[in-house]
Amino acid sequence: MTAPNPRIATVTLPYGIAAIDAAAAVIADGGCVAVPTETVYGLAADAGDSRAVAGIYAAKGRPGFNPLIVHVPTLAAAQALAAFDDHALRLARAFWPGPLTLVLPVRDGAGIAALATAGLPTIAIRVPAHDAMQALLARTGRPLAAPSANASGSISPTRAAHVLRSLDGRIPLVIDAGATMRGIESTIIACIDGQVRELRPGPVTRAAVAALLDVTVGGAGAGIEAPGQLASHYAPSKPVRLNATDRRDGEWLIGFGPVAGDDSLSPGGDPVEAAARLFDALHIADASAATGIAVARIPDDGLGAAINDRLRRAATRG
Ligand code: TXA
Ligand code: MG
Repeated sequence: MTAPNPRIATVTLPYGIAAIDAAAAVIADGGCVAVPTETVYGLAADAGDSRAVAGIYAAKGRPGFNPLIVHVPTLAAAQALAAFDDHALRLARAFWPGPLTLVLPVRDGAGIAALATAGLPTIAIRVPAHDAMQALLARTGRPLAAPSANASGSISPTRAAHVLRSLDGRIPLVIDAGATMRGIESTIIACIDGQVRELRPGPVTRAAVAALLDVTVGGAGAGIEAPGQLASHYAPSKPVRLNATDRRDGEWLIGFGPVAGDDSLSPGGDPVEAAARLFDALHIADASAATGIAVARIPDDGLGAAINDRLRRAATRG
């Protein structure tokens, strides 16, 4: 992918006070920085500054219609931006801070750039659990729009090195706090008009949401409600074959449980470990000399549903 702007020097700083100070200065100046969350690294900018938000889209090479997740430090800060119904309130109290994004009606006068919500009457909002993102929120005092910190259409980053793979020379700063804990993007739940719908599976399972609220959780509607869910969104540069039991000629095999491979998502068959390793394993496979990627079958229960959702997208080349 070619850079939309002249290349700039990208600095990587270890997470700490100096890194947060530097990042806050970039954000106050209308720029964007890569910062870890507990799910994946995000590319953060001031959600109230439309030029800054445009800078995120430019760095990612992302289609302009794709709305972003707005990160805030607390539920109270979220309530200033969005209208919470009873379902949303209970979900926030149970799962925040954490890997859950709520899509809710945006409040009038919330002060969020229309570009961040792609002009929708709703806003995707979450309170992240990672110290680095929380420190940046505290230091800037601003809601931060942050999509995953990768160029559009490439694999989500769970390490600073993954961010650099597609955004080196396109952003000024990466805060490095090592591998992210969850390794997979947040669950997205829409609470609108009394309905609860899962727009993107993730670490907070649909079953956990249904159990907490004692309601039926619907799926995404017919239209593309989470446009980032385009089929090929997670595609590596090589063909991906799913449900593999062995390695074919030229392939890199990503194993799981009893299927050993060049690598394994979890030799013990643990879906939590597999989710945390998923994008790392895809990055390694993509960077290998192999001409194709095969992935062992992952059972569809619990977190397996989110993993398989990402894998099906990785296998769809568009
Ligand atoms: O874990 C995460 O959620 C990470 C970290 C950085 O927080 N962020 C992330 O952002 O995955 P992104 O931009 O890669 O994915 C955001 C998703 C997209 O599928 C987008 O279409 C959807 O959220 N989205 C945002 N606003 C929406 C809205 N108002 N209605 C429906 N979907 C929305
Ligand atoms: Mg993304």
